[in-house]
Amino acid sequence: MEAIQALTTRRSCRSFKQEQIKDEELKTILDCGLNAPSGKNKQSSKIVVVQKQEEIKELSKLNAIIFGKDVDPFYGAPTVCFIFVPKDESNGVKDGSLVIGAMQTGAYALNIGSCWINRCKEMFELPEGKKYLEKWHLEDYEGVGCCILGYIEKALPEKVILENRVIKG
Ligand SMILES: Cc1cc2nc3c(=O)[nH]c(=O)nc-3n(C[C@H](O)[C@H](O)[C@H](O)COP(=O)(O)O)c2cc1C
Repeated sequence: MEAIQALTTRRSCRSFKQEQIKDEELKTILDCGLNAPSGKNKQSSKIVVVQKQEEIKELSKLNAIIFGKDVDPFYGAPTVCFIFVPKDESNGVKDGSLVIGAMQTGAYALNIGSCWINRCKEMFELPEGKKYLEKWHLEDYEGVGCCILGYIEKALPEKVILENRVIKG
């Protein structure tokens, strides 16, 4: 899919096939994120990719604790990425957000569904979340967002763009 088409038709996906995405597709999506702009080109964000289903379940539970609902906030996606930035990086959240946006558009261009899932910062502040940060050697990092990925199960609806969002100055 060409870039403009992907950028203007992308939608979030919340219903996934269980089949795992291919390694080369994941690599392309990660490359999109790694090539996102960053303040002063510091490229300080990290992307943790989780594909072990047991681990995804554990992490989904942590996210659900913060959500305060007994649901799977990752919608059964077979791949979940967590985007982290250094706690002391002033442009961190901006840089990390661009990484996720680029990954989502890149995924969509490959016909792979994605969605940004919130509560990434808070879930890794829980005691069980901190254990993951230790395991990944990211103790001095904070979560920006979770990016779930997988093959699209149901057709995605067309987007309706709200009016009056562009102001001629
Ligand atoms: C900062 C941010 C947080 C989001 N958090 C969630 C979330 O926790 N769960 C969810 O299902 N979607 C979440 N989304 C996806 C939005 O709901 C979605 O982007 C929005 O409804 C617009 O739909 P579209 O992405 O299909 O254009 C989030 C998106 C952003 C940018």
